[in-house]
Amino acid sequence: MDKLIVHGNSTLKGTINISGSKNASLPILAATLLTDQPCIIRRVPDVSDTNYMLQILRALGADVERSSGTVRIQASKIISDAPYDLVRRMRASICVMGPLLARLGQACVSLPGGCVIGDRPVDLHLKGLKGLGANIDVEGGNMNFTAPNGLKGAEIDLRGKHGPTVLGTDNLMMAAVLAEGRTVIESAAGEPEVVDLAEFLIQMGANIEGAGSRRITIDGVSSLNAVDYTVIPDRIEAGTFMVAAAMVGEGVTLNRVNREHLTASTDVLQEAGHIVEFNEGGDKVTVHPGEVPQGCNITTAPFPGFPTDMQAQFTAMFATTPGISVIEDTIFPQRFMHCAEISRMGANIRVDNGTAIVSGVESLSGAPVMASDLRASAALVLAGLKARGTTEINRLYHIDRGYEHIDEKILQLGGSVERVRE
Ligand code: EPU
Repeated sequence: MDKLIVHGNSTLKGTINISGSKNASLPILAATLLTDQPCIIRRVPDVSDTNYMLQILRALGADVERSSGTVRIQASKIISDAPYDLVRRMRASICVMGPLLARLGQACVSLPGGCVIGDRPVDLHLKGLKGLGANIDVEGGNMNFTAPNGLKGAEIDLRGKHGPTVLGTDNLMMAAVLAEGRTVIESAAGEPEVVDLAEFLIQMGANIEGAGSRRITIDGVSSLNAVDYTVIPDRIEAGTFMVAAAMVGEGVTLNRVNREHLTASTDVLQEAGHIVEFNEGGDKVTVHPGEVPQGCNITTAPFPGFPTDMQAQFTAMFATTPGISVIEDTIFPQRFMHCAEISRMGANIRVDNGTAIVSGVESLSGAPVMASDLRASAALVLAGLKARGTTEINRLYHIDRGYEHIDEKILQLGGSVERVRE
């Protein structure tokens, strides 16, 4: 298992390119199952989650070629059973359900297991697919879907207890593009990654309107075409480096970003006193630390609100920002595993009932820490760069799930990190 040694008191300076979005790539890769025609997808990040998805597509029978960020997939002949061994490694594999069911009229996918960031049920995914007429049996840990007479468009409300569902909206949208008639998804997720999937499907010939809003209308078509598509920049990777730049930067510029996707993180950085400047086109951003940083309050919310996937990184920043910051995660109220680890480095954080109360301390000290999930690990890297001394981050595979070559990017900015292979 690799670990990352982070040398503290680092200063980051210079320019890096932001990778393609992991969370846009995953459903887009799954959507290639909807056609027997070749699909080319560009800027797919080289992270273990996208690699698992490609392995799943191969196991389902698709022909997959990868050459750095460009992936060519042709799902001429596929089977309907997603292999448990691959599916269990990544929750996002459930987004093959919609495409398999739409294309083959049946699908068998394992129920995802527990997840460290909290309870992650699939009831809304099932509600959506049932709404289109699928029969669903759960047996032996698998979900078996059948739609012997095909899927039929319907009006379906996907509102959940914690708001809209991103992958649930994706699954339903992918199933509905080949269903007969009109589907209306109410309370849909409007995240940029959902919009990117919709754009991909539209370029394949799907009829979709309203992606990005709470109501998506889909008119089914009988088949979809070949496509050549470039995924959007990863707003969470960009946000993570923006926070790093505010914590330990001396002018860090990020290329290949999308300003509209970064509003919530930008607003909090500015409210905390840091300087964020986009170029006119909004695809390049430079961040400088402010002279008098201050604590802020954050509440996570669906897009365009503050993303839960940036909560841990901002918690790391506020750990050494003067004042008290109150951070509430309404989407995943149990997603605070990073707080105990950052506290081991000297932070003063109290977690209570979905809220972290962070009292900024003057400095952190490096320590051996344990990565618990993807964004929590990113928070530990940020804390390690800021701390005195050396931080050893164990279980690095968590960060490799979603950050493309993070160690190389930090080195490129002048930070000092070492990946130790064991
Ligand atoms: N939910 C339900 N029932 C469902 C589905 C979701 O109650 O059937 C609840 C969840 O438990 C949660 C809320 O709805 O409280 C939102 O979850 P959502 O379904 O939107 O999460 P997801 O689609 O499984 C994606 C991202 C996550 C990100 C969330 C929220 C991908 C591959 N994953 O997950 O990203 O945190 O949306 O924005 O797109 C990450 O990249 O680190 C990550 C965890």
